[in-house]
Amino acid sequence: LAPVYSLYLMRLEDIKKVLVIGAGTMGHGIAELFSMSGYQVYLSDISQDILDNALNKIRWSLEKLQEKGQLKEDINTILSRIKTIVGLNTIVSDADFAIEAIVERIDLKRQIFSKLDELLPPHAILATNTSSLSITKIAEATKRADKVVGMHFFNPPVLMQLVEVMKGEKTSDETAKLTYDLAKKLGKTPIMINKDIPGYVVNRILGEIISASCILIQRNLADYLTIDSIARYKLGFPMGVFELIDYTGIDVNYHVSKSLEEYGIKSPCVTLFEEKVKKNELGVKTGKGFYTYP
Ligand code: CAA
Ligand code: NAD
Repeated sequence: LAPVYSLYLMRLEDIKKVLVIGAGTMGHGIAELFSMSGYQVYLSDISQDILDNALNKIRWSLEKLQEKGQLKEDINTILSRIKTIVGLNTIVSDADFAIEAIVERIDLKRQIFSKLDELLPPHAILATNTSSLSITKIAEATKRADKVVGMHFFNPPVLMQLVEVMKGEKTSDETAKLTYDLAKKLGKTPIMINKDIPGYVVNRILGEIISASCILIQRNLADYLTIDSIARYKLGFPMGVFELIDYTGIDVNYHVSKSLEEYGIKSPCVTLFEEKVKKNELGVKTGKGFYTYP
């Protein structure tokens, strides 16, 4: 008999199937991470081509980890736990935990959350990997705001240690705690943020550094290479500021800046990002951004 979840709180060990929506820069890495930890994973996106590309990237990453002796299982076993799905339908209705990683737009995220609320069982937790949007506003698209939570991974999810877990106004303590424990089970170091802060803490700090760098560029006081060299060789960052923007995606940074504007946080970078987005110069993913990539 299937357990009647509504009668008791879900426990960490009840999470068996995980749904990842969006198979781009973040989604493919999040799916890889869950699968590496033994979870059955549904990976959803809008076309099979995107999903095939995501599987290729996961294989590449797993090969890298295997070379370094960091895999407990063989690559095909890990890959066999990932089932790709175009769109969202009733196939995913046995997922216990969903994490959304689609484009950073509140309208689209709310549509997905409303659909997830319809499709997934009542016990399922619905998490979002948003970089800057309000968890409370995303949760309003569902009838289970107590089970909607922010779970913010960093790029690349398999290598980055930190995960920010953030509560919306109605997120229950149980949901937040379970998500925190889940991040730990994935081998990460989670931090709990008890208030709904658009941008969480990391992107609010990172945003200030990026803004300061854009101002130096706009005033012709420094060029990209100078700023990036200082970031790497003086400030001790693993990547330069503009290198990191290319790596995370100029479109992602553009959407983050725009959505933070709604909360009164203005970014001097918006015009610079917008020009690049219009030319489809999105960074590493399109081969050109502030730098070019082979
Ligand atoms: N899976 C497995 N291995 C990977 C990998 C992945 N996804 N990505 C890179 N690697 C491997 C590389 O192939 C390389 O392996 P080899 O030495 O065998 O070639 C190794 O990791 C080291 O990589 P690199 O030599 O390319 O460069 P690196 O030493 O600089 O490490 C990095 C790469 C870990 C990404 C490092 O540059 C880094 O930490 N960069 C900063 C990333 C960061 O800050 N991310 C957060 C961004 S903000 C965000 O994500 C939030 C948001 O909301 C936008
Ligand atoms: P991306 O553009 O690389 O990927 C987004 C994916 O979502 C695309 O493959 C797209 O086809 C898919 N998608 C769009 N609409 C969809 C739908 N209705 N159903 C299923 N899939 C759909 O974006 P990304 O960089 O992976 O960012 C995803 C989310 O994660 C955003 O909210 C972003 O702010 C956040 N985030 C990004 C980073 C980063 O470094 N890139 C880091 C942390 C958080």
